[in-house]
Amino acid sequence: ASEPVLAIESTSDGELIVNGKSTPSPEPTLFSSDLISPTVAAALPAGYIARSLRPSDYDTGFLDCLRVLTTVGDVSKADFDAQFKWMSAQDKTYFVLVIEDTAIGKVVATGNLIVERKFIHELGKVGHIEDIAVAKDQQGKKLGLRLIQALDFIAEKQDCYKTILDCSEANEGFYLKCGFKRAGLEMAHYY
Ligand code: ACO
Repeated sequence: ASEPVLAIESTSDGELIVNGKSTPSPEPTLFSSDLISPTVAAALPAGYIARSLRPSDYDTGFLDCLRVLTTVGDVSKADFDAQFKWMSAQDKTYFVLVIEDTAIGKVVATGNLIVERKFIHELGKVGHIEDIAVAKDQQGKKLGLRLIQALDFIAEKQDCYKTILDCSEANEGFYLKCGFKRAGLEMAHYY
């Protein structure tokens, strides 16, 4: 018997044509699912998953989640997509993680790791943890801890020699429980 013939073409906008039929291409992500810590994935409540941000998260509560942290303002879908695309183009630099409750298709927690490349420490890399937010009605379920553990896992996989973050005094206890220790002093210039 002859082998079945598979004709695959790809259009300029990423659409796949398999044997003449259009197949929806998978949604882009900022990083691969291989970077999700199996230990964290196993420790999440049933039905919750940790994954990369995707463009469709514009409509899944990601921005509302961030509103527990600070002002987000009005962000259009076009601007959201442009920011996603820009981050995506910065190879292995922006790791925006979300935790989704798949039963309701909503993002319930999010946090970022930004990997900074240096000349010191033999071209070392430092991880920066930013914008950790757990939706108000989901706090106290260890989702914050899982976010930090998941971002720590990515930082180690990216060969960061340390990860640092800034937080308020009110959150110090949380980060101590996540294994961080007080180091240095934050200073700022606002523009
Ligand atoms: N102070 C002291 N301990 C705390 C605090 C706190 N503010 N928050 C949580 N903990 C403790 C918990 O009691 C728990 O302790 P246990 O292991 O003994 O039970 C442990 O820390 C883990 O708590 P989680 O359940 O994982 O915490 P949660 O999911 O509620 O997330 C977070 C904590 C991220 C601070 C959440 O409350 C939140 O989103 N707050 C509003 C936004 C915010 O302040 N984000 C952090 C900004 S700093 C930054 O982004 C770098």
